[in-house]
Amino acid sequence: MYDLREIILAYNPQICLKLRLVNTLIKPQTRAPFAKKHLLQILDLNRLEALELIERAEGFLPYTSMKEKKLDFLAGRTLINLFFENSTRTQSSFELAGKRLGADVVNMAVKSSSVAKGETLLDTAATLNAMGPDLLVIRHKSSGAAQLLARKVSCSVINAGDGTHEHPSQAFLDSLTLKRTFGRIEGLKIAICGDILHSRVARSNIMLLNMLGAEVRLIAPPTLMPTDADKWGVKIYDNLLHGIEGVDVIMALRLQLERMSGSFLPSPREYFRYYGIDREKIRVAAPHVRVMHPGPMNRGIEIDSEIADDPRISLIVDQVQSGVAMRMAILEAMASFEGGEYA
Ligand code: CP
Repeated sequence: MYDLREIILAYNPQICLKLRLVNTLIKPQTRAPFAKKHLLQILDLNRLEALELIERAEGFLPYTSMKEKKLDFLAGRTLINLFFENSTRTQSSFELAGKRLGADVVNMAVKSSSVAKGETLLDTAATLNAMGPDLLVIRHKSSGAAQLLARKVSCSVINAGDGTHEHPSQAFLDSLTLKRTFGRIEGLKIAICGDILHSRVARSNIMLLNMLGAEVRLIAPPTLMPTDADKWGVKIYDNLLHGIEGVDVIMALRLQLERMSGSFLPSPREYFRYYGIDREKIRVAAPHVRVMHPGPMNRGIEIDSEIADDPRISLIVDQVQSGVAMRMAILEAMASFEGGEYA
């Protein structure tokens, strides 16, 4: 007996791709609801839930490179993006993810909203809640803002970065990128380098990578290393060459100059000399080492352009590509929550 799909596949690669996709994407009515309503911080999820989110995103990956990108998983649902801080990657990928799943997407223009007239976060939240959204994605300069919002609104809340606390969807898209590149996360040696102190990306990645079985090393000048980092189950270095020796992956972090109030660094040039990722320094890493950066990058400070733009080493473009699929999975999963345990 021939499988009809195999015959169509042999004759029409375009249909083949679509059939594969239909096989990969389980229809919304048959997909089990996700166990959590919100995505606020990594440790609100257990290991199985984290793996499930990554698996759901893998199902959306082939779809992101197809010509027809529209699905109806969130048809009739409303997503509000509420970004109180600047964003290129996170806001646009949540918007694209929502639209590709068929949701109505509203991007609140915070600068021209009543926030500019002094309205508080909670009043803004109450107003938006009264409009009946299903999903609210928030970025805010205050750590804990997403948690606060989740207690005040009835819809799902997704933390798109709160102060120096967490940026969970970034950690998930980084793990998805690692899984696509290495086929696994467990056992990988990963060095996170730079401004750990101010980095919500580092915090979420440390929690998630630890949960998924990677070996995590942190590298920073002493002024940019949190004093309690030794309690996070990671290895700590202030010497970059010692920290990246033999690693599979280097994650460079942005220097968050806007969050630095004192004198954390002697100068950007000196920082690059000791902590900037360049071809010479990565010689001590594993021969197959791959370099990541969440963006936006300060070229020539955290990372040399020669590395950032080398597709044999850099995963930066892959991270952005993973971002849309990962955020589709997060939106679809949170919207499927039916009750029971709250995050
Ligand atoms: N990585 C990240 O959060 O980038 P944006 O600030 O552009 O969203």
